[in-house]
Amino acid sequence: MKIIFATNNAHKLSEVQAVLGEGFELVTPRQCGVEEEIPETADTLEGNARQKARYLYERTGLDCFADDTGLEVEALGGAPGVHSARYATDGHDFAANNRLLLKNMEGVANRRARFRTAICLIEGGEEHLFEGIVEGHIIDHEAGSEGFGYDPLFTPEGFERTFAEMSAEEKNDISHRGRAVRRLVAYLQERNK
Ligand code: IMP
Repeated sequence: MKIIFATNNAHKLSEVQAVLGEGFELVTPRQCGVEEEIPETADTLEGNARQKARYLYERTGLDCFADDTGLEVEALGGAPGVHSARYATDGHDFAANNRLLLKNMEGVANRRARFRTAICLIEGGEEHLFEGIVEGHIIDHEAGSEGFGYDPLFTPEGFERTFAEMSAEEKNDISHRGRAVRRLVAYLQERNK
């Protein structure tokens, strides 16, 4: 089954494709002729996922899904949250975001944080929402070179290593996006029986 995933981020694409398995073929917006950046101007993760999925559905008329993820740090009142991509700058500057997060967490004892992913699927025009959460904490230096974004600063609960020190499979098994995508897959498999 072909389904459009609203991302041109190669890392995310391969993470999600690995969880979806062979029964589903992901198609990118670019492959459907949608070249422009898809707007995400809502003030919640769910709102952004819905906005991106709707945008693609209106342009292509095909079933599609979009995700939005935020890192929610307890001591920072849930920041960077929905602003995770543009925490330090206007662009997706992972290094600058990590530097700013480390600075804002200097001397902070409560390091609790979680990644949260919201997925919006549009199937035959109808919306379905799925969520995935992983709890953990923010360490005080960057560790590891796998993954992307805040991975070098985030240690999931029950582990001594950051996401950036894990293989893609290990991360997918427990990650926010892995969990949300498995819920999406369970739903799609049930529908396509
Ligand atoms: P997006 O909604 O998936 O594009 O995520 C927004 C921002 O959250 C990204 O630019 C990253 O900074 C961060 N992010 C999302 N997913 C992850 C992840 O799995 N690991 C680390 N950072 C992530």
